[in-house]
Amino acid sequence: MITLFGIAGSLRKASYNAGLLRAAVELMPENAQLEAATIEGIPLYNADVETAEGVPDVVERIKDRIAAADGLLLVTPEYNNSIPGVFKNAIDWISRPPEDRIRVFKNRAVGIIGASAGPHGTVFSQTAWLPVLRTLAMRPWFGKLLYVNGAMKLFDSSGNLIDDAIRSRLKSYLEGFVAFVRENR
Ligand SMILES: Cc1cc2nc3c(=O)[nH]c(=O)nc-3n(C[C@H](O)[C@H](O)[C@H](O)COP(=O)(O)O)c2cc1C
Repeated sequence: MITLFGIAGSLRKASYNAGLLRAAVELMPENAQLEAATIEGIPLYNADVETAEGVPDVVERIKDRIAAADGLLLVTPEYNNSIPGVFKNAIDWISRPPEDRIRVFKNRAVGIIGASAGPHGTVFSQTAWLPVLRTLAMRPWFGKLLYVNGAMKLFDSSGNLIDDAIRSRLKSYLEGFVAFVRENR
């Protein structure tokens, strides 16, 4: 069994990216499962808080779940052609302290997908993640790309993915990513 851990990088209730992640959970190939997580409850990173209190429990739990998974799936929105601050903040906390980075991130397979309202479907934010993944020494998969643009026509008002063509592309992305994870485990 291949296990993936997925994080949607939005706090919006009807988030397209949370909806894309929910659809991914449903569309996983056989003998593979995806656990979906949110960034809710992760405070703003503050080095003084880390020094005084350590890493928050909510972050430690996510670190442990990533470390227990075979691969990580980032489902990223896009703000101003880059990574939304709330999502970057979450990964910044998850990357603390540096001694834990090897356990949590190093050589772990990672896929990136995302949905946005604009015409480019998160191509810029997905690209902006790459230096972060390099710094964390992760192993990104580039075998397929999934940039979901014009999201308001593809998701309902609760953020559920209702477009069959995108569902089918998502399924194919997951098949490829899981095969990569299996080969690199
Ligand atoms: C500050 C801000 C900047 C945005 N910039 C972009 C952008 O550069 N490209 C884009 O396609 N959509 C942009 N959007 C629209 C988002 O795609 C849209 O808010 C989307 O719903 C965010 O993802 P979510 O539904 O998962 O929260 C922006 C939205 C905000 C609030």
